[in-house]
Amino acid sequence: MKTGAVICGLGAALPSRVLTNKDLEQIVDTSDEWITQRTGIKERRIVSPGESNSKLAVEAAKKALARANISPYELDLIIVATFTPDYLMPATAVLVQDQIGAKNAGAFDLAATCSGFIYALSVADQFIRADRSRKILVIGSEVLSHKVNWEDRTTCVLFGDGAGAAVLTGSTNDQRGILSTHLHADGSLWHLLTVKGCGSLYPPCGDELPREEYYIKMQGREVFKHAVRAMEIVAREALDRNNCSPEDLALVVPHQANIRIIEALRERLGLPSEKVFVNLHKYGNTSAASIPLALVEAEEEGRLKSGDLVLLVAFGGGFTWASALLRW
Ligand code: COA
Repeated sequence: MKTGAVICGLGAALPSRVLTNKDLEQIVDTSDEWITQRTGIKERRIVSPGESNSKLAVEAAKKALARANISPYELDLIIVATFTPDYLMPATAVLVQDQIGAKNAGAFDLAATCSGFIYALSVADQFIRADRSRKILVIGSEVLSHKVNWEDRTTCVLFGDGAGAAVLTGSTNDQRGILSTHLHADGSLWHLLTVKGCGSLYPPCGDELPREEYYIKMQGREVFKHAVRAMEIVAREALDRNNCSPEDLALVVPHQANIRIIEALRERLGLPSEKVFVNLHKYGNTSAASIPLALVEAEEEGRLKSGDLVLLVAFGGGFTWASALLRW
């Protein structure tokens, strides 16, 4: 199969404020031991007043453009994957477009929860396969700390804020780039992970909905089971499509939700630990930002080498799940 888009620059942005498990012990009835054992998370980043989704997205975008050596004027399209935008209108992507000066780019947001970055990557890949000269900025950016119920210990320990960006263009080398992307959803299970309030069904000032429904609500155990199963299936789908096996992979960069989900996936694929990238101990679950944040760190650590076969795989509310196989 011909390769599609190639990632030519990555960038990350994280709030400076760190919230540790010990800090959480002061807020809800929890412990560092419980959080570490059940999730693998030790700390997460949280925005301070004045920091926003678009601010993080712009910072990550500027870094990715600098790494790609591409001017904002050259961009054809900006896609921001998020479910925590600054506003319901306009899209966060147009705020980014304005603030980086990407005068020639179209811009829209894409909502596919934790699978959002791979969904956006897939859209960008289709545009670039149609015209290899196109240059597209894909960002995963979230401010989950404002969607978390800080009185609900079953969810508030899990999430964090951050943004990661990737600049994509056509590969000049047929060996490098995205080999294939695979997107799935099952809307019949939407009720297992929700934020019901503040949409048009339950407007912000309504009194029909209990207060906790304005924040993330989750049936954790159910989500866990589905995540492991779906991530394995969609990982194998990408490998099968490209006649590859798990042993061919140099690195898997999974959505960073829970170390036990990642471990279960690793075991099911029969991979050694060093082939699976993990940084969730530092940032928790940053939804659409988690994979680009992981890619940035994997590259900085020298774990992404030219020619490597790299698998991205994610799962999130909806449910949605997705994978992408890339020749780095
Ligand atoms: N601190 C201490 N105890 C906690 C706690 C916390 N933060 N959160 C829950 N508990 C308690 C529960 O109340 C329960 O107590 P009980 O046995 O007295 O009723 C006990 O711990 C076990 O809870 P349970 O929900 O069964 O734990 P779990 O092993 O399933 O772990 C999650 C909970 C949320 C960590 C886990 O289910 C998970 O990670 N699910 C997937 C979440 C996810 O990744 N979502 C995003 C997908 S993109």
